[in-house]
Amino acid sequence: MKIGIIGAGNMGGAIACGLAASGKYKSGEIVCSNPTTAKLDKLKQQYDIIATTTNNIEAVKGADMVVVAVKPWLAEGVVKEIKQAFDTPGKMLVSVVADVPFATLREWVADVENQPAIFRVIPNTAISVGESMTFVAEDGATEEQTALVMKIFSLMGEAMLVNERVLEVGMVLASCGIAFALRYVRAAAEGGVELGIPAAQATQIVAATLKGAAELLLRNGSHPEQEIDKVTTAGGITIKGLNEMEHAGFTSAVIRGLKASAGK
Ligand SMILES: NC(=O)c1ccc[n+]([C@@H]2O[C@H](COP(=O)([O-])OP(=O)(O)OC[C@H]3O[C@@H](n4cnc5c(N)ncnc54)[C@H](OP(=O)(O)O)[C@@H]3O)[C@@H](O)[C@H]2O)c1
Repeated sequence: MKIGIIGAGNMGGAIACGLAASGKYKSGEIVCSNPTTAKLDKLKQQYDIIATTTNNIEAVKGADMVVVAVKPWLAEGVVKEIKQAFDTPGKMLVSVVADVPFATLREWVADVENQPAIFRVIPNTAISVGESMTFVAEDGATEEQTALVMKIFSLMGEAMLVNERVLEVGMVLASCGIAFALRYVRAAAEGGVELGIPAAQATQIVAATLKGAAELLLRNGSHPEQEIDKVTTAGGITIKGLNEMEHAGFTSAVIRGLKASAGK
């Protein structure tokens, strides 16, 4: 199976690396294109099996799946440039472009005789370390095609099949969520420094703690409050700190931030 990836930036590069690292693809099955060569050379150095080109048409020639990973304002030109790749039935167009809905993507390929299955896939930047929370939505895809796309993106973290509406708001939790979680890390580390822990050590401690807290939820399938109960002894230090944070508006600040990002 050949996968053509258009754009070797953060997303395209991470997808190419994630696929190559999975060990499931042979040399030449992953082809990545980019107008400039520096990112392509870096990809090639990391994974020799990734084929690279500065020519988008070459990247999609004979591809079963085309992944478009360029900035939103370039997406229309790129999709229209490569739509000849959908010359036979059963092809897949995967867009990771955040702001372009199915209706627009369909319009861009409207004159193509064999309408491809279209997927909107929104990973977050943790895809570069194989820990993405990725949303997948489909339009006109068969069950087999959807299963394939889910399998591919599950190689690079957690993949969740949703409808387009959920994808739009879920992105706030998962993509913007990276920044929100990291701002907590920075705040907690700064508190640690004030308490006398060196900055680098404080950041490492908070990041590892956050990872452990997330694992408790993911592995136990528990509610956050159940895990919180386990560390809040009556009259103890954790509940004192937690309540102080709530007095300062912790939960409310998080909800307000999410709603602002979602434009609500
Ligand atoms: N970053 C995120 O967290 C995130 C999450 C979900 C979705 N997305 C979406 O992913 C898309 C890509 O974002 P990104 O962060 O990966 O951007 P990026 O790092 O800027 O990567 C875009 C790449 O596209 C290349 N490019 C420009 N014009 C091209 C063309 N005509 N043909 C082929 N490649 C071209 C650029 O090359 P040069 O730099 O050499 O010009 C660049 O390497 C965006 O639409 C964004 O909405 C991003």
